[in-house]
Amino acid sequence: MAKKNNSPKIQFVCSECGWTSSKWNGCCQNCGEWNTLQEIAPILHNSINSESLTDFSGRICAISQIDTQSEIRYSTGSGELDRVLGGGLVKGSIVLLGGEPGIGKSTLLLQICQFLGENHRILYISGEESGRQIRLRAERLHVMSENLLILIENNAQIVCDAIHAEKPDVVIIDSIQTMQITDISSTPGSLTQVRECTNLFMHTAKFLEIPMFIVGHVNKDGAIAGPKVMEHIVDTVLFFEGERHMSYRILRAVKNRFGSTNEIGVFDMQENGLQEVENPSQMLLSGRPVGVSGTCIACVMEGSRPILAEVQTLVSKSSYASAKRTATGFDYNRMSLLLAVLEKRFGLNYATLDVYLNIVGGFKLDEPAGDLPVALALYSSITDKIIPDSLIAIGEVGLAGEVRSVSHILQRVEEASRMGFAICIIPKQSLSAIPKIPGIRIFGVDSLRQAFTVLARLESEQQNPPK
Ligand code: TYD
Ligand code: MG
Repeated sequence: MAKKNNSPKIQFVCSECGWTSSKWNGCCQNCGEWNTLQEIAPILHNSINSESLTDFSGRICAISQIDTQSEIRYSTGSGELDRVLGGGLVKGSIVLLGGEPGIGKSTLLLQICQFLGENHRILYISGEESGRQIRLRAERLHVMSENLLILIENNAQIVCDAIHAEKPDVVIIDSIQTMQITDISSTPGSLTQVRECTNLFMHTAKFLEIPMFIVGHVNKDGAIAGPKVMEHIVDTVLFFEGERHMSYRILRAVKNRFGSTNEIGVFDMQENGLQEVENPSQMLLSGRPVGVSGTCIACVMEGSRPILAEVQTLVSKSSYASAKRTATGFDYNRMSLLLAVLEKRFGLNYATLDVYLNIVGGFKLDEPAGDLPVALALYSSITDKIIPDSLIAIGEVGLAGEVRSVSHILQRVEEASRMGFAICIIPKQSLSAIPKIPGIRIFGVDSLRQAFTVLARLESEQQNPPK
């Protein structure tokens, strides 16, 4: 009889996609990346013994009997962060804050310590910076709470001992890539270390019911280094992103066990730290050019929040055999589709022209409502007809050139009205959903052709203003 091998199997995990294999391979068979399979320490499973079965009486209960009243949330003092967390930090939850190095993760977490420190004790554990560096930064951010305790340490077991000893109300760990368990031979930041340290912190946080922020750096592809394994373990994954050369930053929830993942928070990085941006539309529209063809304003919903952004297009004669097309902040294939609709249905010839499309401010316009403003901007660019500055367009464009309705139309129109826009082109089907809003003219269109007619009408009105 073949001998049963009870020794735990060694496993290999892809650091990019989290795929596991029992054999090492040069190339991950799931995502195709090279040299990403790393050996991880085996997890020991006890074999089932019917005599020592656990007693579950009292632990298995009806869903209706589970208590929800005890969910306690702490406000972080930052309205934007609270919104992304789903209404504050939940007691006993683990929040992973990911982002590129230098984007402002440590700054954000240090800043919220001032407000949190008013009523709670915070233990800030850093494996990256010295106490002096943290203090200097805290002084710059005007964070001087007596309740903010600092520990410089990168041994995960000592960190957990310190949490057990201090029993703070909130723990911040900056960052997971610097933490290590000395019993594991791999280096800090490796897959095994990151996974095991996260597990250890998770158990500590859940056992003591202490909410915990863990900072994680992301690798070049935008995934948290050593990553998918970590995303499964934690309750909430937030990403802090932004263009390096721009001062504003966007905080998004990628996973949230305690709220929606649609919400975003907008911040502006200033000399004295991150300032909340309560009015992102205003920020994104500031400094836009007036009286130039090829631009149109769009409205994108970010969670429950409408945000206005400027679409800019430039169409110019190509000096290459095949014309160049680029799209920044907008889906490239969607742009090609809109160009094809404009060519086929309206005889506009973009074939020999380079087309550049940009959503100003590094913002992403990734929902169907962005089609109409993009199509109008492309039309404006090729015909050199200027779209009025006070106009905003909302709607999805179909392959037949029809304009289709989109969600949250009233909220979008109200945001446009609040921001002082006077003309709004929307899908005809949505007209009935909009009450009369003073100061804003609303045109319902059912096709791109009608939208172009509206533009022509506005142009002639401007040349011959009604008496
Ligand atoms: P930091 O929070 O250290 O980034 P991370 O922890 O994500 O690596 O942010 C550092 C950057 O933020 C650095 O480039 C300087 C800038 N910064 C400011 O512009 N103003 C400030 O008040 C602070 C503290 C940082
Ligand atoms: Mg940092």
